[in-house]
Amino acid sequence: MSNSQSLGGRIDVAGIPSELRVLATSFNSMLTRIDEGMTRLTQFSGDLAHEMRTPVATLLGRTQVTLSQTRDVETLRDTLASNVEELERLTRLIADMLFLAQSEQDKHALDRDEVRLDAEANLVAEFLMHIAEERQLQIAVVGKASVSANRLLVQRAITNLLSNAIRHANKMTMIEVTIEQSQTMVTLSVANVGRAIASADLGRIFERFYRVDADRSRDSGGTGLGLAIVRSIMKMHDGTVVATSSTDGRTTFQLRFAVM
Ligand SMILES: Nc1ncnc2c1ncn2[C@@H]1O[C@H](COP(=O)(O)OP(=O)(O)O)[C@@H](O)[C@H]1O
Ligand SMILES: [Mg+2]
Repeated sequence: MSNSQSLGGRIDVAGIPSELRVLATSFNSMLTRIDEGMTRLTQFSGDLAHEMRTPVATLLGRTQVTLSQTRDVETLRDTLASNVEELERLTRLIADMLFLAQSEQDKHALDRDEVRLDAEANLVAEFLMHIAEERQLQIAVVGKASVSANRLLVQRAITNLLSNAIRHANKMTMIEVTIEQSQTMVTLSVANVGRAIASADLGRIFERFYRVDADRSRDSGGTGLGLAIVRSIMKMHDGTVVATSSTDGRTTFQLRFAVM
């Protein structure tokens, strides 16, 4: 049997009287759920500490070095400006973490409206236009359909996918947002051409803080939580998100909503 330190043990169901077996089986599955929850929590706080340690260490180091000598105003200003960037990153990280923690707890019904996916996609595309233009990218929105959904959450999911596509697309290419409706499903796909995602990574990019090696450098700016948020938003809508990436570099993320 397990003690309170280890949740690995289980009751041997075969060895007990049949009238207790149902109870023992559900006790075992409860242990499994608690065990999984504990593992997730431990890993999560470990990841969080790790993610926050780097920006905090950077802030501290830079500030200490600057303070160690007399500096001119220009240098002090530069230090403060870099600190602001780092602090903005931390703020984003904390906001994203809070969003994820809340979305997993709030099981109550969403505020839903009829949301036109084409209208929302165009809105987000316009909002991100200036970043896209810096990389000479074009964004095309094709097709239309409506879903019963929470507008702000849908906007957030599209924003996360589109900003990833903008970051990863090859310069001077086209990012395609395609909206389609079948009898059972409404889908919104965001496709870009860039460096393909290896199939080993494809299964993991929706995990919190998971980034493909090449994207781990800090100047890429992401918190590694964008896709975890997309997945959790789709779960709240009883939908899914699926990623595919072909060797020629075309990567597609598809949001799937069930037709009500
Ligand atoms: N369109 C894309 N093309 C290539 N890789 C992508 C794309 N979108 C996401 N990824 C990979 O998935 C990882 C996780 O994405 P995300 O959760 O949004 O975190 P972040 O954008 O903060 O790095 C990214 O770091 C990147 O490696
Ligand atoms: Mg992202």
